[in-house]
Amino acid sequence: MKIPGIKSKDLLTVSDLSRDEIFKLFEFTTSLKKDLKRGIHHNYLTKKTLAMIFEKSSTRTRVSFETGIVQLGGYALFLSENDIQLGRGETLSDTAMVLSRYVDGIMIRTYSHNKAIDLAKNSAIPVINGLTDSFHPCQSLTDFYTIYEREKDITQTKLVYIGDGNNVANSLLLGAAILGVDIAIASPPEFSPLPEVVEEARALSSKSGAHILITDDISLAVQDAHYLYTDVWISMGMEEETEKRKKAFTGYKISLDLLKKCGKNCKVMHCLPAHRGEEIDADVMDSDNSIIFDQAENRLHVQKAIMCSLMV
Ligand code: CP
Ligand code: NVA
Repeated sequence: MKIPGIKSKDLLTVSDLSRDEIFKLFEFTTSLKKDLKRGIHHNYLTKKTLAMIFEKSSTRTRVSFETGIVQLGGYALFLSENDIQLGRGETLSDTAMVLSRYVDGIMIRTYSHNKAIDLAKNSAIPVINGLTDSFHPCQSLTDFYTIYEREKDITQTKLVYIGDGNNVANSLLLGAAILGVDIAIASPPEFSPLPEVVEEARALSSKSGAHILITDDISLAVQDAHYLYTDVWISMGMEEETEKRKKAFTGYKISLDLLKKCGKNCKVMHCLPAHRGEEIDADVMDSDNSIIFDQAENRLHVQKAIMCSLMV
């Protein structure tokens, strides 16, 4: 299958991609996934190297990118902030210019989203956002792919996110708005998604027809839900707010009771890592309604498609 093109040099936020580009990426993902399961490998990234800068912890992102590029014939370098000079004060722009002379792509997981933007501006090669405080595009693209592979028409679905209006929620909101998926986000008012992201999503939804609801009312949000999604209450870097957040988010969880209200066909999603018993109960995670580990697996397939589209 032909590798689909992406106009943008980088993937920093879901809105770097058009609706059409995302669907083409999904079709390509399906072919990569099927071929892998049949033992067919494609060397689309032979001898290409991805530098992966991690300023925060990771299990899925690191392992899926690293495994993914190896399956495509390439190589990944894990660069933690403790190992590279960036952690000792070398500038981001110098780092970007140097890495651009050696490798074919950079993945960065960092705090401020502006750092990822700066890195991309100063790099001659594609930069992929592997999570910032504001966005997690590889995660939400995977989440919509996970819905897409189960549905005849993704635009007939409603995704309900309960909990912190964080990086994952921001990216889900943008993805839903681009793709035409109805989305409701229920968070305590102080923890709603970023206002500028809500505004961008509303503008995008006028084209796609996605219905957007931002509320603090869980029962209102879950009406007609097909997919229930949550994420941790305390994201990486927010540890100082632990007590305040635990108080504010009490009740903003996916429990078996809430799931029952949504009907037996409602599926449950989580980007992981989860805090069982906090934002999601263990019996929900382990229930037949959970597609959480499909999401985790699909990170591999979707990111392989992303790397091909950006790096070939
Ligand atoms: N969902 C996700 O990005 O997981 P990691 O933090 O383990 O990479
Ligand atoms: N919102 C979480 C996502 C982890 C993948 C965090 O930023 O820690």
